[in-house]
Amino acid sequence: MKIQEIWPGPMEGIGRNGFIRAATGLRLVERWMTPFIRVTGSVPAAGKLFRMVEEYLSGVVPVTIQIMGNDPEALGECAAKLLAFPHVEGINLNCGCPSLRVVRHHSGGGMLRHPEKLAEFCRKIAVFLPPEKLSVKVRSGFENPDDMEIFLPELSESGVISKIFFHYRTVTEMYSSSPLPERVNRIARAVKLCGDVPVIANGDISSVSDGESLVAATGAAGIMIARPWMRDPFLLRRFHDNLTADEETGRQLFMVELRREGIRGGALIELAKMLWGSKSEHFRQIMAEEGY
Ligand SMILES: Cc1cc2nc3c(=O)[nH]c(=O)nc-3n(C[C@H](O)[C@H](O)[C@H](O)COP(=O)(O)O)c2cc1C
Repeated sequence: MKIQEIWPGPMEGIGRNGFIRAATGLRLVERWMTPFIRVTGSVPAAGKLFRMVEEYLSGVVPVTIQIMGNDPEALGECAAKLLAFPHVEGINLNCGCPSLRVVRHHSGGGMLRHPEKLAEFCRKIAVFLPPEKLSVKVRSGFENPDDMEIFLPELSESGVISKIFFHYRTVTEMYSSSPLPERVNRIARAVKLCGDVPVIANGDISSVSDGESLVAATGAAGIMIARPWMRDPFLLRRFHDNLTADEETGRQLFMVELRREGIRGGALIELAKMLWGSKSEHFRQIMAEEGY
């Protein structure tokens, strides 16, 4: 089965600079979604915004820039500036971040505390953009996954949302370590509630067979993978090319490329920890090579 859209999940604090160049250079992704840009108060000047995302824009793949905030006019103004940059194909509104600081400011996952207000909030942002440019990344609810019964139909009928990225957990479920048993049911329900608006399924997709069976069982239009991609850098590529590097070869190739891009010391060690785990021989060896 060929899945149409395979997305790398945005990861604030990880996807920066040499990492992005290394992933782009090895053609590990077909598209990017950036981590969120927080818009609080005044909208940054275009030059400052460009510097925040320029590594993503330096490749040839299309880029969706994610924004987060609680002021729809400021978000709309910011989105319009970002959309003018090269390779940017869309803007995504983060409605899922569970960080307490973010939630307290009624942005990210905090927006799902009032599911009935989300569609109107998006309409106010969309006023600043051409049609088909705004998507959202949501969870299934704040505390209760039944809340998606309210906000998903409203978002899909709003006429301003081109795509819905759906992380199946609720905000209060945070990043619970193993997949929840109701993953398939929640995603299948989300696809139904979204009608004609494509749903990109997200959460704990760790292999090609898992991704394919999830799409077959739910009718999702595509998938997004974040943490498992960090442990298996060629995972996204493998969906369309089953001759690509296996997990271990992929980790080693990626490490070579990260070094070639100039990543050293603590930053390299952090990445090695994600790739192999802190108890692995590889991790210890890279620590020693970096003089730690
Ligand atoms: C360290 C870290 C940073 C993240 N940063 C973002 C972010 O900036 N924007 C976002 O929408 N999701 C962010 N996420 C959530 C992931 O994109 C994804 O939705 C979540 O990890 C579930 O998918 P997975 O099981 O494939 O990891 C982050 C997750 C992690 C672990």
